[in-house]
Amino acid sequence: MNLFFEVFSEMDRLAPGSEASTLNALQSVREILEPMDIFEIGCGSGAQTMVLAKNTRANITALDNHAPYLRILENKALDAGLSERIQTLEGSMFEPSCPLDPYDVIWAEGCLYIMGFEKGLLQLRELLREGGVIAFSEASWLIDSPSSEPLAFWKQAYPGMCGIEENCRKAESLGYKVHDHFVLPSSDWEDEYYAQLKDRIKTMRPRFVRNRKANQLFLSLEAEMKLYQRYGCEYGYVFYILQKV
Ligand SMILES: C[S@@+](CC[C@H](N)C(=O)[O-])C[C@H]1O[C@@H](n2cnc3c(N)ncnc32)[C@H](O)[C@@H]1O
Repeated sequence: MNLFFEVFSEMDRLAPGSEASTLNALQSVREILEPMDIFEIGCGSGAQTMVLAKNTRANITALDNHAPYLRILENKALDAGLSERIQTLEGSMFEPSCPLDPYDVIWAEGCLYIMGFEKGLLQLRELLREGGVIAFSEASWLIDSPSSEPLAFWKQAYPGMCGIEENCRKAESLGYKVHDHFVLPSSDWEDEYYAQLKDRIKTMRPRFVRNRKANQLFLSLEAEMKLYQRYGCEYGYVFYILQKV
């Protein structure tokens, strides 16, 4: 089994976030429109998909390029009796097929960076109806002059990472109105995401003592968690709620 998938497949979520933050963003979306058609990209095993399905009447198309995550989501949807409103789609967010009708809402938690902020916003705008909304969480700088250690880490992990103001300016220049943005609380990293990640590493480590690649992965994930402990006030995930204008 793919090592990365083995770490993450047992986790409820694959990036910082929480049910409360998804609901906060949904409330903000509802100030603009009531979602009836949601296109979610990078849905993973469906942490947000399920929250959206349980708290709206929308039909949700959930896209990911890793089929095993989609099977997990399908089982969750089946157990919750929500299969009729959740359609999974295996494919690339770089080549989303154009829907017959454009979507009301596009949702992207912890994954727009894969397309790149500007490229992603530009491409996804084509799939939204006029006045439609995109809600996404994005790693962002929270201060103007971050320390050298987080700068070096993020230069590798996400070289395009910007501050909130710059992201808002870029979004406006790409044809969106910034409706809202908020910083995800540190508990979304530490309690909701890293706590599970630590447990997974603890469980898996004894089975992989002689596996160099596995140990490298565990060490790099631990370094990432330590970095957040120390510098989490300098960067964070920010939810942006933008309206197509
Ligand atoms: C950081 S995870 C976030 C998953 C989920 N939104 C969550 O918060 O739990 C990023 C997701 O994007 C998916 N992904 C990566 N590259 C992709 C691509 N080119 N097209 C579609 N999905 C992709 C991964 O399989 C993974 O599920």
